[in-house]
Amino acid sequence: MERKDKRKIKITGTGFYVPDKVLTNFDLEKMVNTSDEWIFTRTGIKERRIASKDQATSDLAIEASKLTLKDAGLKVKDIDLIITATSTPDTIFPSTACWIQKGLGADIIPAFDISAGCTGFLYGMILAESMILNGQHKRILLVGGEALTKVTNWKNRNTCILFGDAAGAAILEESHDDSGMLSYYWKADGNLGDLLYQPAGGTRIPASTQSLAQDLHCLQMKGNEVFKHAVKRMEEAALEVLERAGLKKEDIDFLIPHQANKRIIEAIGRRLRVPPEKVYSNIHKYGNVSVASIPICLHELSQEGKLKKGDIVLMDAFGAGFTWAAVTYRW
Ligand code: COA
Repeated sequence: MERKDKRKIKITGTGFYVPDKVLTNFDLEKMVNTSDEWIFTRTGIKERRIASKDQATSDLAIEASKLTLKDAGLKVKDIDLIITATSTPDTIFPSTACWIQKGLGADIIPAFDISAGCTGFLYGMILAESMILNGQHKRILLVGGEALTKVTNWKNRNTCILFGDAAGAAILEESHDDSGMLSYYWKADGNLGDLLYQPAGGTRIPASTQSLAQDLHCLQMKGNEVFKHAVKRMEEAALEVLERAGLKKEDIDFLIPHQANKRIIEAIGRRLRVPPEKVYSNIHKYGNVSVASIPICLHELSQEGKLKKGDIVLMDAFGAGFTWAAVTYRW
């Protein structure tokens, strides 16, 4: 929503971490019936990172969080809430946020996870805004981490080419200048949940020898269907969030779409009439890293010196649930 009182939250630090191991399209050619050419033309992906056997989501998120605190010039004792967005938690319980709290050596502060598929980072920003502007928290660590390759079916070429592992984070605080989050829009439609999901391992289909034999602990997706909904909903979210901020398409200096597929990214750019050089994409390097994709884009853009003070950034995401959300932000 557009806030009446004009108070805003802002990002005071960003950072990300990706595991060392690179899996290229050529590596995948040796694993399933696919080709570098098919993967690149259909998705824009060239390679992705793979967490090691002993790296869980929190391990990636802890590294990203440390770099983010450093970027913000803060110590871990300076944060008063940890929100983690993930669909691939270390454990169903406790939350990954609690494992991150332990790993960072954070104070005894609240820590919890949100599950909103690839939209989780924007859901986290929206949630953080109300917690900060309500005066409940001053400085929030929002970290999106994902080890999707641990729930990937490496025999299924429809899905195994798409995902990678990574974590990205941001520190959020109240803004005392012009910069910050201007408007948001968030939605979900649980009717379409089974177009992209991990069927087993929860209470619907608890782990059993049968669930393992049927690969039900791996991500399943109807890619074609997801594609169509993603383009439609991301356009809807972008238009709504612009209107709520009193902005026009031409005001966008940078569009940061969730990095799910280069063709989705380009379609959103075309629909919003944002020129390609203003549509940020790094999918070739990391694949779809779900909740980590937007904070990684933000960090890269700011590190590359491309983001100037006052620039209008539109972040736009879509994911399992289905969930979708967008945020306008003045840098
Ligand atoms: N290598 C070679 N061929 C492949 C392949 C692969 N890795 N994966 C699928 N194919 C084949 C299919 O079997 C199909 O063959 P057929 O026509 O003989 O049946 C053909 O390519 C087309 O498949 P289709 O699924 O229609 O391709 P697509 O153009 O929709 O691309 C995705 C598939 C998954 C890349 C695309 O649908 C996508 O990116 N969807 C969105 C995914 C997404 O965003 N998910 C996360 C949301 S956060």
